[in-house]
Amino acid sequence: MVHCLYIYEIQLSNNIMTDRLIKIRNKILRLLYKTVFKPIAFRQDPETVHDFIIKLGKLFGSINITRNITKLLFYYSNDKYLSQNIKGIMFKNPIGLAAGFDKNAELTAILPEVGFGFVEVGSITGEYCKGNPKPRLWRAKNSQSLVVYYGLKNDGSETISQRLSKLSFKIPVGISIAKTNSPHTINPKEAIDDYLKTYRLFQDIGDYYTINISCPNAFGGQPFTNPELLDQLLSAIARDPKTKPIFLKLSPDLSENELESILRITERYDIDGFICSNLTKNRNNEKILDKDIPEKGGLSGKVQEDLSNKQIEYIYRKYGKKYIIIGCGGIFSAQDAYNKIKLGASLLQLITGMIFEGPQLISEINRELVYFLKQDNYNNISEAVGSKHRSTQ
Ligand SMILES: Cc1cc2nc3c(=O)[nH]c(=O)nc-3n(C[C@H](O)[C@H](O)[C@H](O)COP(=O)(O)O)c2cc1C
Repeated sequence: MVHCLYIYEIQLSNNIMTDRLIKIRNKILRLLYKTVFKPIAFRQDPETVHDFIIKLGKLFGSINITRNITKLLFYYSNDKYLSQNIKGIMFKNPIGLAAGFDKNAELTAILPEVGFGFVEVGSITGEYCKGNPKPRLWRAKNSQSLVVYYGLKNDGSETISQRLSKLSFKIPVGISIAKTNSPHTINPKEAIDDYLKTYRLFQDIGDYYTINISCPNAFGGQPFTNPELLDQLLSAIARDPKTKPIFLKLSPDLSENELESILRITERYDIDGFICSNLTKNRNNEKILDKDIPEKGGLSGKVQEDLSNKQIEYIYRKYGKKYIIIGCGGIFSAQDAYNKIKLGASLLQLITGMIFEGPQLISEINRELVYFLKQDNYNNISEAVGSKHRSTQ
């Protein structure tokens, strides 16, 4: 007994030491990012920087030593508080990389070492898609947002499925599917076939699917937010064998009526949850603080955050834990992340926060989430999901 207590005390003091070291490490990385890397990177064209980071991440992921260095610099884990088994998938922590950063699934080896709990690759379309003409990515610095007009640039479902079929993954991988951005998919039948092509090629690859019906930048708009067309799309998907959970990614610009119609259709099918949300197209938003925002494109980050939160809250209030909600939009801190969890999100995704705050943000959020959970007397993050609604009942 005394021996056990002694070992427990040593472990506890080791954990406290490690936690302090990680806190210092993160502070140094944050300082370096904000004073050295970001000022240089933010002077360059955003897409050039994005491409450079993808090349670097791909290289670092391919070599054992650079993977280990990355882990030493960025990794954080706390299985007791942060891990969850959701729909049979083990998530070591709730922070995922949102769709659109690793469009061609080239970073799956390095992202676990950066500390991500999961990654969503894509969006992947049936055919190769070169995207919209450049420029197609802008920073709205004062609004802490990005204006995105990529138009689903990606290598296409055949190339990406071949790339991934040879790999095994350390963290869950979500497959985001969208329809090819081209006049050929303007007809609903062709558009559905395009979704199905990707769906089928990834039957045995990855851990979950996301059906992206909310890309703001594709030819023909967002036809599948129309309930009848969504019904046709989901029924076509339902005719195929279901090999993994399916999420639906929603636009934050849906009115309550539009959202209700989508939810009514979704209830008829075996859909596991929602991603709240994609980019906002609406320029009438008080969080837009920059002048000269391009007219085209969707906005991310702080401009989208409240819309995402409202949608999480709405869906959680309506369904409770019937659906898994992945909260996405404007997460720049552990407080932002915890807020989404308390509103009803079981998992979270981000991109813009990492670009404005630095890649150590993942570890910072996870570490501070543990602190918040302890403070609120929760033993695991799953207990905090939706807690805001319970305390207001
Ligand atoms: C550069 C960029 C590209 C994106 N591309 C996609 C995409 O291909 N598919 C998708 O579903 N969402 C895409 N998104 C939207 C994000 O997945 C996310 O929903 C949105 O950016 C809000 O999260 P954030 O504020 O943390 O960035 C993209 C976002 C960014 C910033």
